[in-house]
Amino acid sequence: MPVAQDQSPRRSITHLLVTAGPTHEPIDSVRFLGNRSSGRLGVSLADQAAQRGWDVTLLLGPVSILPTDSRVRLRRFRTAADLQGLLREEMTRATILIMAAAVADYRPLDGASPGKIRRTADNLRLELEPTPDLLAEVAQSRTPGQFLVGFALEPRERMRASAAEKLARKNVDMIVANPLETMDSATIEALVLQANGVENFTQGAIDKTEFGSWLLTLIEQAAGKDAR
Ligand code: CTP
Repeated sequence: MPVAQDQSPRRSITHLLVTAGPTHEPIDSVRFLGNRSSGRLGVSLADQAAQRGWDVTLLLGPVSILPTDSRVRLRRFRTAADLQGLLREEMTRATILIMAAAVADYRPLDGASPGKIRRTADNLRLELEPTPDLLAEVAQSRTPGQFLVGFALEPRERMRASAAEKLARKNVDMIVANPLETMDSATIEALVLQANGVENFTQGAIDKTEFGSWLLTLIEQAAGKDAR
């Protein structure tokens, strides 16, 4: 007897795409604009998801930390433009995206200056252009069943309002909001808002590994219920 096909857009294996680390936007052949993101949280999420049996691809920026689980498929980026290209390729098979990368908001207009900018006695003015919002771009072209998670690093007093604003503006399923001190720290404190109105928060600051497990469970439950 033929077996009935599952018509649900949800697939049984979770294909997780995680982005982590900063972007470096070159100013000239030796200098760049960057930020202090360590990539630690995203790498830990990738390792822990692989240990849960998920199929994991990690898009990792210019950091020294690497995943320890050999099942994590690793691709590297340097600039926001590199990451944009990788996301376009990798979102075709992802069921969940965790966008933990600290993407630069601005980059030098017209790209890097050729060679090395020389010192002179004059002031130097750098003109910057905004980078594309990669998460919003992914959300615009998402396919049914893809669950998108963004992050928001915010001053503590603005965490809830900014997270709610980013949830709507970027059209994602979940925003993980953290206070500014989280960047480059071993611990994390988070408020998680979902598009369906559900809210969760950690009890104070917790270790990033412990937080990773907590967040993956939350995402697993939410994506299972709400994948669109
Ligand atoms: N993000 C992105 N592309 C950008 C900037 C940010 O995809 N060019 C993603 C980040 O990876 C994160 C989320 O958007 O998951 C929120 O990033 P954040 O820097 O907090 O927000 P911004 O969009 O930069 O807004 P603001 O500058 O107002 O904080």
